[in-house]
Amino acid sequence: MSEQLSSEQQRLIEAAKAAAQATWSPYSNFPVGAALLCADGEVIHGCNVENISFGLTNCAERSALFAAISRGMAPRTFKAMAVYAPKVELISPCGACRQVLAELMAPDALIVCQGSDPAATRVWTLEQLLPGAFNHL
Ligand code: THU
Repeated sequence: MSEQLSSEQQRLIEAAKAAAQATWSPYSNFPVGAALLCADGEVIHGCNVENISFGLTNCAERSALFAAISRGMAPRTFKAMAVYAPKVELISPCGACRQVLAELMAPDALIVCQGSDPAATRVWTLEQLLPGAFNHL
């Protein structure tokens, strides 16, 4: 399914592409970038950061969210996130990131995902990514 992106969503994808440049992914060779749109319009970057102890890897989506929270931005106010990964036709956030997105994004946030094929770009709601999420806030 192809999506028509707004200019703001397209800008966010460009930011996610730039964020992917900072990746530390020598084990998977699978760079991922994320760009988080904050309530005040600021865009926070995240990338995947791997470790030789593989289980310690942090995905780009969580890197962006944790960076924003660490900078004092309020949880559940983030309006959108773009995720970009050039080594796959269309990137799809992992289960762990879906759980974290469900808790920390604004409830009506959209997640824009793009891989090597722009025509395959998808825009997801949080409910689509993780239906019936464990969330009691
Ligand atoms: N990864 C992300 O950063 N985000 C995703 O949505 C999927 C996977 C990372 C984790 C690991 O560094 C590499 O991609 C391969 O799984």
